[in-house]
Amino acid sequence: DGYSAQRLFHQGYSYTYDDVIFLPGYIGFPVEQVDLSTKLTRNISLNIPCVSSPMDTVTESSMARAMAALGGIGIIHANIPPSDQASLIKAAKSSHFPVLSNPVLRSPSDSIISLEDFADSPCILVTDSGDCRGKLVGYVAKSDWNNLADKETQLAEYMVKFSDFAPWDCDLGRMIRYFEEKPGKEFTPIVKGGEIVDVAGREDVERLRGYPRLVGGGSMGPNGEWMVGAAIGTREADKERLQHLVKAGVNVVVLDSSQGNSLYQIDMIKYVKKTYPELDVIGGNVVTMYQADNLIKAGVDGLRVGMGSGSICTTQEVCAVGRGQATAVYKVSSLASQYGVPVIADGGISNSGHIVKALSLGASTVMMGSFLAGSTEAPGAYVVQDGRRLKKYRGMGSLEAMTKGSDARYLGDKSKLKIAQGVVGAVADKGSVLKFVPYTLQAVKQGLQDLGAQSLRDAHDMIKTTLRLEVRTGAAQIEGGVHGLVSFEKKPF
Ligand code: XMP
Repeated sequence: DGYSAQRLFHQGYSYTYDDVIFLPGYIGFPVEQVDLSTKLTRNISLNIPCVSSPMDTVTESSMARAMAALGGIGIIHANIPPSDQASLIKAAKSSHFPVLSNPVLRSPSDSIISLEDFADSPCILVTDSGDCRGKLVGYVAKSDWNNLADKETQLAEYMVKFSDFAPWDCDLGRMIRYFEEKPGKEFTPIVKGGEIVDVAGREDVERLRGYPRLVGGGSMGPNGEWMVGAAIGTREADKERLQHLVKAGVNVVVLDSSQGNSLYQIDMIKYVKKTYPELDVIGGNVVTMYQADNLIKAGVDGLRVGMGSGSICTTQEVCAVGRGQATAVYKVSSLASQYGVPVIADGGISNSGHIVKALSLGASTVMMGSFLAGSTEAPGAYVVQDGRRLKKYRGMGSLEAMTKGSDARYLGDKSKLKIAQGVVGAVADKGSVLKFVPYTLQAVKQGLQDLGAQSLRDAHDMIKTTLRLEVRTGAAQIEGGVHGLVSFEKKPF
């Protein structure tokens, strides 16, 4: 009944995730027993198969910290100067508390003139020197400042005094206990190596407490800090960029290119492996076995798969190259698995079913852009449009992003004429990834259970043997979605 993947994907069609559907298997275990732990690269293991995309509207420090806290990983984009990219890595790694608040620091003799002085932080911390190395003496919350009649008043006169702090490796569980033990306290600075690196607030802790928890824990590197990845290009200048990233403690580097099978990338893979033998390098993007084979031979530790399947991509229309993502993931994975190289299915994920399909077709992780871009942790502020809260999401090959610097990925070199391979758009507010990623993964577990796969390893074995699938006709795709209703409640995520 149904087709094996080998037979289905050998017919000369390019299939997307929505084109195909798996036939259910046998459920012989409870959903709690489905294990989503996986490999990002040859040497890096993750507790969940989720990676945030190196795009400037998706992954900076806040997203990278949250993804690591969930057990996945974030890849910091390279559309900024190398020293800024390195600072984002350090900020993401600076604390185990999953929320990043970027504390504002002042000295006791300062005064706060405007609410803007708080920036994104819920409070202003006061140290005797006014910087992160000083001795902590107190804090001022936004509400305290709002109630203040004379805004010129020095902080020393109305700050809440304290000198207590939480260590940087205090995770959510410990932070919950910390605030329980100190009922009067609204904030605590987080300190690492004698410096104030962040601040945690009671409000955040209470909010996180209500979110579903993932079992398995965060993605910890060898030195106990969260793991963080970063993107680089394949130009000469990227070798210098890499130096900054390595100094900042980057755990894995992604060579960010829309067509990865190139002389430049192969040289860069060899350079990275020779210069930093301990650092895993992810190559791509690729969609064919031929491309993948070249990068595997050059020494990649992981492969990123997808060309033109991303929600903001126009590569297939502009350049006439690419592949349906289901076909690409299956084909590349079937080759890469023979060499023990994990595959990242990059782009085209818009629901939990797509994640189940990507993982069952052979990918070890999924990389997501639009799925995460509407979250609190994505860079940028929300805007309200027609009564809806939206965040900007743009392709790294859009003219707007390339003008800011990402032209290396899409132009290959320093071409004068810029041809866009992506668009600028917006996505709806989804709340925190710390909340909706666990829900999404619970659905992924149910999908794997329906197939009869208790782990990703099971799924990867099954795609070579017992798993059966079919192509959905246009009518079958309509039938498989919500249809025939006058109205319905939109799903929360
Ligand atoms: P999703 O579907 O998750 O896709 O939003 C994210 C992935 O899309 C790729 N990407 C682009 N591809 N033009 C392209 O052809 C672009 O401007 C562009 N920007 C990002 C990238 O692989 C990302 O992870």
